Amino acid sequence: MKILVTYYSRTGTTKKAGEAIAEKLGAEIEEIKDTVDRSGAGGYVISGRDALQKRLTKLEPSEKNLDDFDLVIIGTPIWGWNMSVPARTYVTENKDKLKNVAFFCTMGGSGDKKAFLEMEKIIGKNPKAVLALKTVEVVKNNFLEKVEKFTEVLKK
Ligand SMILES: Cc1cc2nc3c(=O)[nH]c(=O)nc-3n(C[C@H](O)[C@H](O)[C@H](O)COP(=O)(O)O)c2cc1C
Repeated sequence: MKILVTYYSRTGTTKKAGEAIAEKLGAEIEEIKDTVDRSGAGGYVISGRDALQKRLTKLEPSEKNLDDFDLVIIGTPIWGWNMSVPARTYVTENKDKLKNVAFFCTMGGSGDKKAFLEMEKIIGKNPKAVLALKTVEVVKNNFLEKVEKFTEVLKK
């Protein structure tokens, strides 16, 4: 089974989680890259506003052909109890190319359920598994057991 882990990460937390998941599964990995600069305090503010308004952005082109993958695992940070704007754009633009999906997110503390439900609704497919991690768990490396459980389900 060919697997792609693809994620957006503004400050590296979701990237770290995505890398651990890809390593466990021997999967390919690709970052979702935004053309909008979301760094710093200004970036925080526009990102929160855009996420709440469910806006889309312009992404840099992906180098992966999604037809090649049996499973695509999509990762996002939670912004304003929603998926991030780049992740929303990715699922909106690619929904018809995705055969099987799984989702993961990182967050301060809440918003995962709402975001996952919306990702499922946009794509129109039930995820094979979902994984919600708190930022602090990832930063302190207390997340590998959860990654193990998530990837075990996906290997079946
Ligand atoms: C604009 C913005 C809004 C956020 N909103 C939430 C939220 O609603 N709930 C939450 O638990 N964390 C929220 N966070 C925290 C991030 O989800 C968390 O820090 C995440 O791990 C960041 O991932 P990253 O380092 O991959 O960008 C928000 C962060 C940003 C930048």
